[in-house]
Amino acid sequence: MADDKDIETLNVKDKEFSDRYGFSKSDFGIDFQWGVATAAYQIEGAVHEDGRGKCIWDVFAQKKGKIKNGDHATHTCDFYHRYEEDLRLAKSLGFEKFRFSISWSRIIPDGHGEVNQQGIDFYNRLIDACISLDIEPWITLYHWDLPQALELVGGWKNRKIVDWFSAYAKVCAQAFGDRVKSWIILNEPMATAGLGYTTGLHAPGKKGILNFLPVVHHLALCQAEGGRVVRQHVSQSYIGTAISCSYVHANSTSAADLRAAQRADALMNRLFIEPALGLGYPSDAFAFLKKLDIYKLPGDDEKLKFDFDFIGLQNYFSIVVEHSYLAPVLWLKEVPAILRNVPITHMGWEVNADGMYLILKQFEKYKGIREIIVSESGAAFEDTLAENQIADIKRVEFFRDYLAAVLKAKKEGVNVKGYLAWTLMDNFEWAEGYAARFGLIYVDFETQQRIIKNSGKWFANLLKANEA
Ligand code: NOJ
Repeated sequence: MADDKDIETLNVKDKEFSDRYGFSKSDFGIDFQWGVATAAYQIEGAVHEDGRGKCIWDVFAQKKGKIKNGDHATHTCDFYHRYEEDLRLAKSLGFEKFRFSISWSRIIPDGHGEVNQQGIDFYNRLIDACISLDIEPWITLYHWDLPQALELVGGWKNRKIVDWFSAYAKVCAQAFGDRVKSWIILNEPMATAGLGYTTGLHAPGKKGILNFLPVVHHLALCQAEGGRVVRQHVSQSYIGTAISCSYVHANSTSAADLRAAQRADALMNRLFIEPALGLGYPSDAFAFLKKLDIYKLPGDDEKLKFDFDFIGLQNYFSIVVEHSYLAPVLWLKEVPAILRNVPITHMGWEVNADGMYLILKQFEKYKGIREIIVSESGAAFEDTLAENQIADIKRVEFFRDYLAAVLKAKKEGVNVKGYLAWTLMDNFEWAEGYAARFGLIYVDFETQQRIIKNSGKWFANLLKANEA
Protein backbone atom coordinates (compact mmCIF):
# COMPACT_ATOMS: atom_id res chain seq x y z
CA MET A 1 0.00 0.00 0.00
CA ALA A 2 1.14 3.49 -0.72
CA ASP A 3 1.78 5.72 2.24
CA ASP A 4 3.62 8.79 3.39
CA LYS A 5 6.99 7.22 2.80
CA ASP A 6 6.32 7.19 -0.93
CA ILE A 7 6.45 10.92 -1.03
CA GLU A 8 9.92 12.19 -1.73
CA THR A 9 10.03 14.81 0.88
CA LEU A 10 12.00 17.55 -0.70
CA ASN A 11 11.53 19.43 2.51
CA VAL A 12 11.59 22.47 0.39
CA LYS A 13 11.01 25.94 1.66
CA ASP A 14 8.27 27.87 -0.08
CA LYS A 15 11.00 29.93 -1.73
CA GLU A 16 12.69 26.89 -3.26
CA PHE A 17 9.39 25.65 -4.64
CA SER A 18 8.76 29.08 -6.03
CA ASP A 19 12.20 29.30 -7.68
CA ARG A 20 11.50 26.03 -9.35
CA TYR A 21 7.86 26.39 -10.38
CA GLY A 22 7.18 30.12 -10.42
CA PHE A 23 4.87 30.27 -7.39
CA SER A 24 4.39 28.80 -3.98
CA LYS A 25 1.48 28.08 -1.68
CA SER A 26 1.94 31.30 0.24
CA ASP A 27 1.38 33.37 -2.94
CA PHE A 28 -2.26 32.28 -2.80
CA GLY A 29 -2.70 33.61 0.73
CA ILE A 30 -3.38 31.85 3.98
CA ASP A 31 -7.14 31.80 3.53
CA PHE A 32 -6.93 30.03 0.15
CA GLN A 33 -8.66 26.65 0.36
CA TRP A 34 -6.77 23.64 -1.04
CA GLY A 35 -8.62 20.44 -1.65
CA VAL A 36 -9.17 17.41 -3.78
CA ALA A 37 -12.47 16.39 -5.37
CA THR A 38 -14.18 13.04 -5.97
CA ALA A 39 -17.67 11.72 -6.75
CA ALA A 40 -19.58 8.81 -5.23
CA TYR A 41 -20.30 6.77 -8.33
CA GLN A 42 -16.77 7.12 -9.64
CA ILE A 43 -15.04 5.78 -6.52
CA GLU A 44 -17.34 3.98 -4.08
CA GLY A 45 -18.16 0.64 -5.66
CA ALA A 46 -20.18 -1.54 -3.25
CA VAL A 47 -23.23 -0.90 -5.40
CA HIS A 48 -25.15 -3.81 -3.95
CA GLU A 49 -24.31 -3.20 -0.32
CA ASP A 50 -26.16 -1.93 2.72
CA GLY A 51 -29.49 -1.26 1.08
CA ARG A 52 -28.34 1.06 -1.69
CA GLY A 53 -30.89 1.45 -4.48
CA LYS A 54 -29.93 1.35 -8.15
CA CYS A 55 -28.91 4.54 -9.88
CA ILE A 56 -29.12 5.44 -13.56
CA TRP A 57 -25.43 4.65 -14.12
CA ASP A 58 -25.84 1.08 -12.84
CA VAL A 59 -28.45 0.55 -15.52
CA PHE A 60 -26.68 2.50 -18.26
CA ALA A 61 -23.40 0.61 -17.73
CA GLN A 62 -25.20 -2.66 -18.38
CA LYS A 63 -26.27 -1.56 -21.83
CA LYS A 64 -24.02 -2.72 -24.60
CA GLY A 65 -21.65 -0.18 -26.09
CA LYS A 66 -22.37 2.63 -23.67
CA ILE A 67 -19.15 2.45 -21.66
CA LYS A 68 -15.73 1.96 -23.23
CA ASN A 69 -14.47 -1.63 -22.96
CA GLY A 70 -17.73 -2.65 -21.31
CA ASP A 71 -16.45 -1.26 -17.99
CA HIS A 72 -18.73 -0.75 -15.02
CA ALA A 73 -18.38 0.73 -11.55
CA THR A 74 -19.54 -2.21 -9.45
CA HIS A 75 -16.23 -2.17 -7.59
CA THR A 76 -14.26 0.74 -9.05
CA CYS A 77 -11.84 1.99 -6.32
CA ASP A 78 -13.75 0.25 -3.52
CA PHE A 79 -13.67 3.53 -1.63
CA TYR A 80 -16.72 2.35 0.30
CA HIS A 81 -14.41 0.01 2.22
CA ARG A 82 -11.10 1.79 1.80
CA TYR A 83 -12.06 5.36 2.62
CA GLU A 84 -9.82 5.54 5.67
CA GLU A 85 -6.71 4.62 3.76
CA ASP A 86 -7.68 6.96 0.91
CA LEU A 87 -8.30 9.86 3.25
CA ARG A 88 -4.90 9.27 4.84
CA LEU A 89 -3.39 9.46 1.38
CA ALA A 90 -5.23 12.71 0.67
CA LYS A 91 -3.87 14.04 3.92
CA SER A 92 -0.34 12.92 3.09
CA LEU A 93 -0.59 14.93 -0.15
CA GLY A 94 -1.33 18.01 1.93
CA PHE A 95 -4.99 18.52 1.08
CA GLU A 96 -7.07 20.33 3.67
CA LYS A 97 -10.47 19.77 2.05
CA PHE A 98 -11.98 16.59 0.71
CA ARG A 99 -14.90 16.95 -1.67
CA PHE A 100 -17.09 13.88 -2.10
CA SER A 101 -20.64 13.41 -3.28
CA ILE A 102 -23.52 11.64 -1.64
CA SER A 103 -25.12 8.80 -3.51
CA TRP A 104 -28.81 9.73 -3.44
CA SER A 105 -29.84 6.08 -3.81
CA ARG A 106 -27.78 5.04 -0.77
CA ILE A 107 -29.67 7.56 1.33
CA ILE A 108 -33.12 7.14 -0.24
CA PRO A 109 -33.08 3.94 -2.33
CA ASP A 110 -36.27 4.80 -4.22
CA GLY A 111 -35.34 8.44 -4.66
CA HIS A 112 -38.16 9.63 -2.46
CA GLY A 113 -39.76 8.18 0.61
CA GLU A 114 -37.97 5.88 2.99
CA VAL A 115 -34.52 6.77 4.26
CA ASN A 116 -31.86 4.04 4.44
CA GLN A 117 -30.05 4.39 7.76
CA GLN A 118 -27.13 2.31 6.55
CA GLY A 119 -26.49 4.89 3.85
CA ILE A 120 -26.51 7.67 6.41
CA ASP A 121 -24.16 5.62 8.59
CA PHE A 122 -21.62 5.28 5.80
CA TYR A 123 -21.42 9.02 5.20
CA ASN A 124 -21.26 9.61 8.95
CA ARG A 125 -18.24 7.32 9.13
CA LEU A 126 -16.66 9.09 6.17
CA ILE A 127 -17.28 12.56 7.59
CA ASP A 128 -15.95 11.55 11.00
CA ALA A 129 -12.86 10.03 9.40
CA CYS A 130 -12.21 13.34 7.59
CA ILE A 131 -12.59 15.29 10.79
CA SER A 132 -10.30 12.99 12.74
CA LEU A 133 -7.60 13.66 10.13
CA ASP A 134 -8.26 17.38 10.29
CA ILE A 135 -9.59 17.41 6.73
CA GLU A 136 -12.67 19.49 6.06
CA PRO A 137 -15.42 17.43 4.39
CA TRP A 138 -17.17 19.10 1.46
CA ILE A 139 -20.42 17.54 0.27
CA THR A 140 -21.74 17.55 -3.28
CA LEU A 141 -25.42 16.68 -3.16
CA TYR A 142 -25.81 15.56 -6.75
CA HIS A 143 -23.01 14.24 -8.94
CA TRP A 144 -24.98 12.54 -11.74
CA ASP A 145 -26.18 9.34 -10.05
CA LEU A 146 -29.95 9.77 -10.05
CA PRO A 147 -31.89 6.94 -8.38
CA GLN A 148 -33.18 4.67 -11.15
CA ALA A 149 -36.61 4.62 -9.50
CA LEU A 150 -36.93 8.33 -10.26
CA GLU A 151 -35.75 7.91 -13.84
CA LEU A 152 -38.54 5.39 -14.36
CA VAL A 153 -41.01 8.20 -13.71
CA GLY A 154 -39.29 10.73 -15.96
CA GLY A 155 -36.18 11.66 -13.95
CA TRP A 156 -35.01 15.20 -14.56
CA LYS A 157 -37.81 15.71 -17.09
CA ASN A 158 -40.43 15.43 -14.38
CA ARG A 159 -41.06 18.65 -12.50
CA LYS A 160 -41.74 16.65 -9.36
CA ILE A 161 -37.99 16.30 -9.11
CA VAL A 162 -37.91 19.68 -7.42
CA ASP A 163 -39.81 18.18 -4.47
CA TRP A 164 -37.86 14.92 -4.52
CA PHE A 165 -34.55 16.75 -4.58
CA SER A 166 -35.57 19.18 -1.83
CA ALA A 167 -36.63 16.31 0.41
CA TYR A 168 -33.33 14.51 -0.25
CA ALA A 169 -31.36 17.71 0.41
CA LYS A 170 -33.20 18.14 3.69
CA VAL A 171 -32.37 14.61 4.84
CA CYS A 172 -28.69 15.20 4.07
CA ALA A 173 -28.58 18.66 5.62
CA GLN A 174 -30.20 17.38 8.81
CA ALA A 175 -27.99 14.29 9.02
CA PHE A 176 -24.63 15.87 8.19
CA GLY A 177 -25.02 19.61 8.69
CA ASP A 178 -23.78 19.51 12.28
CA ARG A 179 -20.31 18.66 10.96
CA VAL A 180 -20.32 19.68 7.29
CA LYS A 181 -20.47 23.38 6.51
CA SER A 182 -19.37 23.42 2.86
CA TRP A 183 -21.97 22.22 0.37
CA ILE A 184 -22.10 22.04 -3.41
CA ILE A 185 -25.67 21.60 -4.61
CA LEU A 186 -25.29 20.30 -8.17
CA ASN A 187 -22.27 19.15 -10.10
CA GLU A 188 -22.15 20.39 -13.71
CA PRO A 189 -25.87 20.48 -14.50
CA MET A 190 -25.04 21.16 -18.14
CA ALA A 191 -23.55 17.67 -18.39
CA THR A 192 -26.78 16.15 -17.08
CA ALA A 193 -28.90 18.12 -19.54
CA GLY A 194 -26.55 17.88 -22.53
CA LEU A 195 -24.96 14.45 -22.21
CA GLY A 196 -27.59 12.66 -20.14
CA TYR A 197 -30.77 13.80 -21.86
CA THR A 198 -29.79 15.28 -25.25
CA THR A 199 -26.87 13.42 -26.85
CA GLY A 200 -27.41 10.31 -24.74
CA LEU A 201 -23.70 9.80 -24.13
CA HIS A 202 -24.23 9.68 -20.38
CA ALA A 203 -26.87 8.01 -18.24
CA PRO A 204 -29.78 7.81 -18.57
CA GLY A 205 -28.95 7.89 -22.30
CA LYS A 206 -31.98 9.90 -23.41
CA LYS A 207 -31.69 11.65 -26.76
CA GLY A 208 -33.36 14.64 -28.30
CA ILE A 209 -33.40 18.37 -28.03
CA LEU A 210 -36.94 18.29 -26.65
CA ASN A 211 -35.68 16.71 -23.43
CA PHE A 212 -33.10 19.42 -23.03
CA LEU A 213 -35.43 22.26 -22.13
CA PRO A 214 -37.43 20.76 -19.24
CA VAL A 215 -34.31 19.13 -17.84
CA VAL A 216 -32.44 22.44 -17.82
CA HIS A 217 -35.30 24.21 -16.12
CA HIS A 218 -35.74 21.57 -13.43
CA LEU A 219 -32.01 21.45 -12.74
CA ALA A 220 -31.89 25.24 -12.43
CA LEU A 221 -34.82 25.16 -10.01
CA CYS A 222 -33.19 22.40 -7.93
CA GLN A 223 -29.91 24.27 -7.86
CA ALA A 224 -31.58 27.21 -6.13
CA GLU A 225 -34.04 25.19 -4.07
CA GLY A 226 -31.26 22.93 -2.78
CA GLY A 227 -29.35 26.04 -1.71
CA ARG A 228 -32.36 27.29 0.24
CA VAL A 229 -32.89 23.93 1.95
CA VAL A 230 -29.27 23.63 3.05
CA ARG A 231 -29.19 27.23 4.27
CA GLN A 232 -32.31 26.63 6.30
CA HIS A 233 -31.03 23.49 8.00
CA VAL A 234 -27.29 24.05 8.37
CA SER A 235 -25.95 26.78 10.56
CA GLN A 236 -22.88 28.69 9.34
CA SER A 237 -23.17 27.00 5.98
CA TYR A 238 -20.98 27.82 2.98
CA ILE A 239 -23.05 26.97 -0.07
CA GLY A 240 -22.12 26.78 -3.72
CA THR A 241 -22.98 24.97 -6.90
CA ALA A 242 -20.51 23.66 -9.46
CA ILE A 243 -20.65 24.78 -13.05
CA SER A 244 -18.64 23.41 -15.98
CA CYS A 245 -17.05 26.32 -17.82
CA SER A 246 -14.99 26.53 -20.97
CA TYR A 247 -13.85 29.77 -22.49
CA VAL A 248 -15.17 29.92 -26.06
CA HIS A 249 -13.15 31.30 -28.97
CA ALA A 250 -14.66 31.93 -32.40
CA ASN A 251 -12.71 30.32 -35.22
CA SER A 252 -12.70 33.54 -37.23
CA THR A 253 -13.87 37.10 -36.95
CA SER A 254 -16.75 36.51 -39.36
CA ALA A 255 -20.10 37.62 -37.97
CA ALA A 256 -21.46 34.07 -38.30
CA ASP A 257 -18.59 32.55 -36.30
CA LEU A 258 -18.79 35.26 -33.65
CA ARG A 259 -22.50 34.61 -33.22
CA ALA A 260 -21.83 30.88 -33.04
CA ALA A 261 -19.32 31.55 -30.24
CA GLN A 262 -21.93 33.58 -28.38
CA ARG A 263 -24.43 30.76 -28.61
CA ALA A 264 -21.87 28.25 -27.38
CA ASP A 265 -20.93 30.57 -24.52
CA ALA A 266 -24.61 30.95 -23.55
CA LEU A 267 -24.96 27.19 -23.35
CA MET A 268 -21.66 26.24 -21.81
CA ASN A 269 -21.00 29.09 -19.42
CA ARG A 270 -24.09 31.19 -18.81
CA LEU A 271 -27.06 28.82 -18.72
CA PHE A 272 -27.00 27.93 -15.03
CA ILE A 273 -25.23 30.84 -13.37
CA GLU A 274 -27.42 33.59 -14.82
CA PRO A 275 -30.82 32.37 -13.58
CA ALA A 276 -29.30 31.90 -10.10
CA LEU A 277 -28.09 35.50 -10.19
CA GLY A 278 -31.53 36.71 -11.19
CA LEU A 279 -30.51 37.45 -14.78
CA GLY A 280 -32.78 34.85 -16.38
CA TYR A 281 -31.74 32.40 -19.09
CA PRO A 282 -29.28 33.82 -21.66
CA SER A 283 -31.71 33.91 -24.58
CA ASP A 284 -30.20 37.24 -25.71
CA ALA A 285 -27.34 35.22 -27.21
CA PHE A 286 -29.34 32.15 -28.15
CA ALA A 287 -32.99 32.76 -28.99
CA PHE A 288 -33.82 29.05 -28.77
CA LEU A 289 -33.52 29.33 -24.99
CA LYS A 290 -36.69 31.47 -24.96
CA LYS A 291 -38.47 28.15 -25.27
CA LEU A 292 -37.53 27.46 -21.66
CA ASP A 293 -40.41 29.77 -20.79
CA ILE A 294 -42.81 27.01 -21.82
CA TYR A 295 -41.75 25.08 -18.72
CA LYS A 296 -41.97 27.95 -16.28
CA LEU A 297 -44.81 28.18 -13.78
CA PRO A 298 -45.82 31.48 -12.21
CA GLY A 299 -43.22 32.47 -9.61
CA ASP A 300 -40.41 30.45 -11.17
CA ASP A 301 -38.27 33.46 -12.03
CA GLU A 302 -37.99 34.14 -8.31
CA LYS A 303 -37.47 30.48 -7.48
CA LEU A 304 -34.51 30.27 -9.86
CA LYS A 305 -32.59 32.80 -7.79
CA PHE A 306 -30.29 31.97 -4.92
CA ASP A 307 -27.46 33.99 -3.47
CA PHE A 308 -24.77 31.35 -3.28
CA ASP A 309 -21.84 31.94 -0.94
CA PHE A 310 -19.56 30.79 -3.73
CA ILE A 311 -19.69 29.54 -7.26
CA GLY A 312 -17.77 26.39 -8.06
CA LEU A 313 -16.09 26.85 -11.39
CA GLN A 314 -14.86 23.70 -13.11
CA ASN A 315 -12.52 24.17 -16.00
CA TYR A 316 -10.60 21.64 -18.03
CA PHE A 317 -10.24 23.18 -21.50
CA SER A 318 -11.27 26.03 -23.74
CA ILE A 319 -12.96 25.48 -27.09
CA VAL A 320 -13.02 26.92 -30.60
CA VAL A 321 -16.31 26.94 -32.51
CA GLU A 322 -17.54 27.97 -35.92
CA HIS A 323 -20.85 28.38 -37.63
CA SER A 324 -22.25 25.26 -39.25
CA TYR A 325 -25.36 24.64 -41.34
CA LEU A 326 -25.11 20.94 -40.54
CA ALA A 327 -26.17 21.24 -36.92
CA PRO A 328 -29.82 22.28 -36.66
CA VAL A 329 -30.82 24.32 -33.61
CA LEU A 330 -27.26 25.11 -32.56
CA TRP A 331 -25.95 26.02 -36.01
CA LEU A 332 -22.42 25.59 -34.79
CA LYS A 333 -19.71 23.02 -34.48
CA GLU A 334 -16.59 22.68 -32.45
CA VAL A 335 -13.24 22.74 -34.20
CA PRO A 336 -11.66 19.80 -32.38
CA ALA A 337 -8.36 20.43 -30.63
CA ILE A 338 -6.80 17.51 -32.47
CA LEU A 339 -7.27 19.33 -35.78
CA ARG A 340 -5.77 22.52 -34.43
CA ASN A 341 -2.34 21.12 -33.68
CA VAL A 342 -2.39 22.05 -30.00
CA PRO A 343 -1.38 19.91 -27.01
CA ILE A 344 -4.21 17.66 -25.86
CA THR A 345 -4.97 15.33 -22.97
CA HIS A 346 -5.98 11.70 -23.23
CA MET A 347 -9.59 12.92 -23.47
CA GLY A 348 -8.68 14.96 -26.57
CA TRP A 349 -9.16 18.19 -24.63
CA GLU A 350 -6.92 21.14 -25.36
CA VAL A 351 -4.31 21.86 -22.69
CA ASN A 352 -4.43 25.62 -22.42
CA ALA A 353 -4.10 27.29 -19.05
CA ASP A 354 -4.94 30.65 -20.58
CA GLY A 355 -8.51 29.33 -20.88
CA MET A 356 -8.65 29.01 -17.08
CA TYR A 357 -7.48 32.60 -16.74
CA LEU A 358 -9.97 33.88 -19.33
CA ILE A 359 -12.96 32.08 -17.85
CA LEU A 360 -12.13 33.37 -14.37
CA LYS A 361 -11.97 36.89 -15.80
CA GLN A 362 -15.29 36.33 -17.54
CA PHE A 363 -16.95 35.22 -14.30
CA GLU A 364 -15.42 38.14 -12.42
CA LYS A 365 -17.76 40.41 -14.39
CA TYR A 366 -20.86 39.01 -12.68
CA LYS A 367 -21.63 41.42 -9.88
CA GLY A 368 -23.66 38.86 -7.92
CA ILE A 369 -20.90 36.28 -7.43
CA ARG A 370 -19.48 36.56 -3.95
CA GLU A 371 -16.56 34.15 -4.26
CA ILE A 372 -15.27 31.64 -6.77
CA ILE A 373 -13.85 28.26 -5.87
CA VAL A 374 -12.22 26.28 -8.66
CA SER A 375 -14.10 23.17 -7.63
CA GLU A 376 -12.50 20.87 -10.22
CA SER A 377 -9.43 21.09 -12.44
CA GLY A 378 -7.25 18.29 -13.69
CA ALA A 379 -6.20 16.14 -16.63
CA ALA A 380 -6.14 12.58 -17.92
CA PHE A 381 -2.91 11.41 -19.51
CA GLU A 382 -1.68 7.95 -20.32
CA ASP A 383 0.28 6.82 -17.29
CA THR A 384 3.11 4.33 -17.44
CA LEU A 385 3.94 2.32 -14.39
CA ALA A 386 7.68 1.65 -14.26
CA GLU A 387 9.50 0.46 -11.15
CA ASN A 388 6.49 1.31 -9.06
CA GLN A 389 6.58 4.93 -10.20
CA ILE A 390 4.37 7.04 -12.41
CA ALA A 391 6.43 9.85 -13.86
CA ASP A 392 3.45 11.87 -15.06
CA ILE A 393 5.33 14.97 -16.04
CA LYS A 394 2.52 16.23 -18.30
CA ARG A 395 0.09 16.22 -15.40
CA VAL A 396 2.59 18.08 -13.21
CA GLU A 397 3.00 20.69 -15.95
CA PHE A 398 -0.76 20.89 -16.32
CA PHE A 399 -1.29 21.66 -12.63
CA ARG A 400 1.66 24.05 -12.56
CA ASP A 401 0.27 26.03 -15.50
CA TYR A 402 -3.40 25.98 -14.50
CA LEU A 403 -2.54 27.04 -10.96
CA ALA A 404 -0.34 29.83 -12.30
CA ALA A 405 -3.35 30.98 -14.35
CA VAL A 406 -5.55 30.97 -11.24
CA LEU A 407 -2.92 32.96 -9.37
CA LYS A 408 -2.61 35.49 -12.19
CA ALA A 409 -6.38 36.05 -12.15
CA LYS A 410 -6.35 36.29 -8.37
CA LYS A 411 -3.57 38.88 -8.41
CA GLU A 412 -5.62 40.91 -10.88
CA GLY A 413 -8.48 40.98 -8.40
CA VAL A 414 -10.64 37.96 -9.23
CA ASN A 415 -12.11 36.77 -5.95
CA VAL A 416 -11.02 33.15 -6.27
CA LYS A 417 -10.76 31.53 -2.88
CA GLY A 418 -9.85 27.92 -3.45
CA TYR A 419 -8.75 25.14 -5.76
CA LEU A 420 -9.93 21.53 -5.63
CA ALA A 421 -7.86 19.24 -7.82
CA TRP A 422 -9.62 16.60 -9.87
CA THR A 423 -9.02 13.96 -8.62
CA LEU A 424 -7.57 12.01 -5.71
CA MET A 425 -7.18 8.72 -7.55
CA ASP A 426 -7.88 7.11 -10.90
CA ASN A 427 -11.51 6.07 -11.07
CA PHE A 428 -14.52 5.29 -13.22
CA GLU A 429 -14.53 8.09 -15.77
CA TRP A 430 -18.16 7.74 -16.87
CA ALA A 431 -18.50 6.72 -20.53
CA GLU A 432 -14.71 6.38 -20.76
CA GLY A 433 -14.72 3.70 -18.07
CA TYR A 434 -11.24 3.13 -16.67
CA ALA A 435 -9.49 4.19 -19.87
CA ALA A 436 -8.99 7.78 -18.75
CA ARG A 437 -6.89 8.26 -15.64
CA PHE A 438 -7.25 11.61 -13.87
CA GLY A 439 -5.82 10.66 -10.46
CA LEU A 440 -2.96 12.05 -8.45
CA ILE A 441 -2.78 8.48 -7.23
CA TYR A 442 -2.61 5.52 -9.57
CA VAL A 443 -5.04 2.69 -8.93
CA ASP A 444 -4.48 -0.89 -10.03
CA PHE A 445 -8.11 -1.93 -10.36
CA GLU A 446 -7.26 -5.65 -10.14
CA THR A 447 -5.43 -5.48 -6.83
CA GLN A 448 -6.73 -2.12 -5.52
CA GLN A 449 -3.13 -1.08 -4.96
CA ARG A 450 -2.59 2.69 -4.83
CA ILE A 451 0.63 4.32 -6.01
CA ILE A 452 1.18 8.01 -5.58
CA LYS A 453 2.04 9.56 -8.94
CA ASN A 454 4.71 12.21 -9.29
CA SER A 455 1.89 14.73 -9.67
CA GLY A 456 0.66 13.69 -6.22
CA LYS A 457 4.15 14.14 -4.83
CA TRP A 458 4.33 17.49 -6.54
CA PHE A 459 1.15 18.57 -4.75
CA ALA A 460 2.58 17.33 -1.46
CA ASN A 461 5.61 19.50 -2.04
CA LEU A 462 3.52 22.51 -2.98
CA LEU A 463 1.16 22.16 -0.04
CA LYS A 464 3.58 21.00 2.59
CA ALA A 465 6.57 23.19 1.77
CA ASN A 466 7.64 24.98 4.88
CA GLU A 467 7.02 28.64 4.79
CA ALA A 468 10.32 30.44 4.23
C1 NOJ B 1 -16.22 16.77 -14.47
C2 NOJ B 1 -17.00 15.80 -13.64
O1 NOJ B 1 -17.59 16.48 -12.57
C3 NOJ B 1 -16.19 14.63 -13.15
O2 NOJ B 1 -17.06 13.69 -12.63
C4 NOJ B 1 -15.34 14.09 -14.27
O3 NOJ B 1 -14.66 12.93 -13.90
C5 NOJ B 1 -14.37 15.16 -14.70
N1 NOJ B 1 -15.12 16.28 -15.21
C6 NOJ B 1 -13.41 14.70 -15.79
O4 NOJ B 1 -14.10 14.41 -16.94
